[in-house]
Amino acid sequence: MRLFVAITPPPDVQERMLRVMEELKSLSHAPRWVRSDGLHVTLKFLGEVKEPQLAAIVSELNRIRASRSIELRFRGLGSFPKHDRPRVIWAGIDENKELTGLAETIESRVEPLGFPREKREFSPHITLARINSREQLENLVRAVAGSASYDFGAMRATEFQLFQSTLKPAGAQYAPLGRFRFVSGEASTEDCTK
Ligand code: 2AM
Repeated sequence: MRLFVAITPPPDVQERMLRVMEELKSLSHAPRWVRSDGLHVTLKFLGEVKEPQLAAIVSELNRIRASRSIELRFRGLGSFPKHDRPRVIWAGIDENKELTGLAETIESRVEPLGFPREKREFSPHITLARINSREQLENLVRAVAGSASYDFGAMRATEFQLFQSTLKPAGAQYAPLGRFRFVSGEASTEDCTK
């Protein structure tokens, strides 16, 4: 199974993202837009995991604690790479040391289980669309550049989720396997793998 760890934005933030995505759809047919249940901030992509490894992963994720919740402000559209032929369009997140720290903690907890550290620097974002086609993207690129500081809203994150990703012809399907509350002093995990 293909797994990853992520934070899901609240419904109001998702709605604002979906509204912006709806507006951008008219500018190009090239992007494959993410479905509403596919909007997330990936903290760690685990990749292929064998069933017997799952319990150890859940146990490590369960142990992660922070002293307080993490404030996330979702702001701006951008693309990877940044030039006029983007492959990914994303919504950004204001710089956030706590979030980077949480991603780093997850990295270090699962590394001993055989999941190598991400070589690229953690660059928190929510993927809104992926682009494979060579269609003209000029208008889309201009619109993305014009929304570099668009405010999608904020959240106070107290949990992250473990997701299973199933690759289908129509795009990846994501199913939550477990929720992990990481704020100390509050009720712990609801783990749907049990
Ligand atoms: P993305 O949003 O930047 O595309 C589920 O596939 C999640 O894991 C996606 O959000 C994706 O990040 C991330 N992901 C997929 N493949 C990956 C890989 N090879 N390395 C790192 N992250 C990956």
